[in-house]
Amino acid sequence: MIEQLKALELESLDKLKAIDSLSDLDQWRVEVLGRKGSLALLLRGMGQLPAADRPAVGARANEVKNTLEAAYALAENGIKQQAIGQRLHQDQVDVTLPGRRPGSGRLHLSTQSLQEIGRIFATMGFQVWESPEVELDLFNFELLNIPPYHPARDMQDTFYTTNSDILLRTHTSPGQIRVMRRYAPEPIRVILPGKCYRFEQVTTRSDIQFYQVEGLAVGRHITLADLKGTIANFAIQMFGPGREVRFRYSYFPFTEPSVEADVDCIICGGKGCRLCKYSGWLEIMGAGMVHPTVLRNGGYDPDIYSGFAFGMGPGRISMLQHAIDDIRYILTSDLRFLEQF
Ligand code: DAH
Repeated sequence: MIEQLKALELESLDKLKAIDSLSDLDQWRVEVLGRKGSLALLLRGMGQLPAADRPAVGARANEVKNTLEAAYALAENGIKQQAIGQRLHQDQVDVTLPGRRPGSGRLHLSTQSLQEIGRIFATMGFQVWESPEVELDLFNFELLNIPPYHPARDMQDTFYTTNSDILLRTHTSPGQIRVMRRYAPEPIRVILPGKCYRFEQVTTRSDIQFYQVEGLAVGRHITLADLKGTIANFAIQMFGPGREVRFRYSYFPFTEPSVEADVDCIICGGKGCRLCKYSGWLEIMGAGMVHPTVLRNGGYDPDIYSGFAFGMGPGRISMLQHAIDDIRYILTSDLRFLEQF
């Protein structure tokens, strides 16, 4: 019987080696180690053995059972590990594939140009100051030397509220009065960025809502040369080195003298092209020396103090910089346009 046990052990281990699936393995367990399995069948013959032989056979039978059980556990573990290996293989990632670009936002073109303008004037000591979008007629017009019925009001058609003294500001210039009244008689160097509104025909060059950046410097001994240097420096930082600035005589009620500042065309450098309408120059802002009446309205004595002011449309400046031919693209939310900047 010891021999039979040995043969059973070897034969079963042999079969086990060939098994590579959990279901076959389970079948093997039933056939070999189960209640009606080959080991149990063999041991049923123990009763016929002489009593003296039984302990040795019993001990051997236990050894065989332990060996087979251990072999079973090992095989089971092996098959499971193999299955995991296969799954890992199937799931493997090709790390050489190009990644998927995550959709990320960006700053709006208007925000970008406002920030750039703010950065440039900061290099010249200008601080940012903000004033209300809903204004009094007094600040938007009268204190800026534009009395009621003054023909200059026709330059800026206005959205009034139901109260005719309260309007949507047509320009950032009323901020000049507000900032002067806040700081007089201290010297001032500020820019005033913000939204403005005009009740006008929408065209490729003007919308009813738009940004402006106002500038104001007030102090002693400020001259037109300071204005010119400031604007020339701005033009070079904004449009690149070598840019030239010229002033043309103009009229604004709140400045005297008044000018319009042009920069030589950033496309053709002055030779004449479509962008500059063959003039060689691009208009970038209105400016001038603050009118004595306006200084007085702001709380400064015009015999002691002087100042310069300017006002520009960052939308217009973006159009020049990027050769955009219609200002309406800037305020509409078409991503195909906005994603270019
Ligand atoms: N407020 C003017 C406008 O909207 C622009 C302007 C011109 C502002 C001359 C100024 C200036 O400060 O000095 O048309």
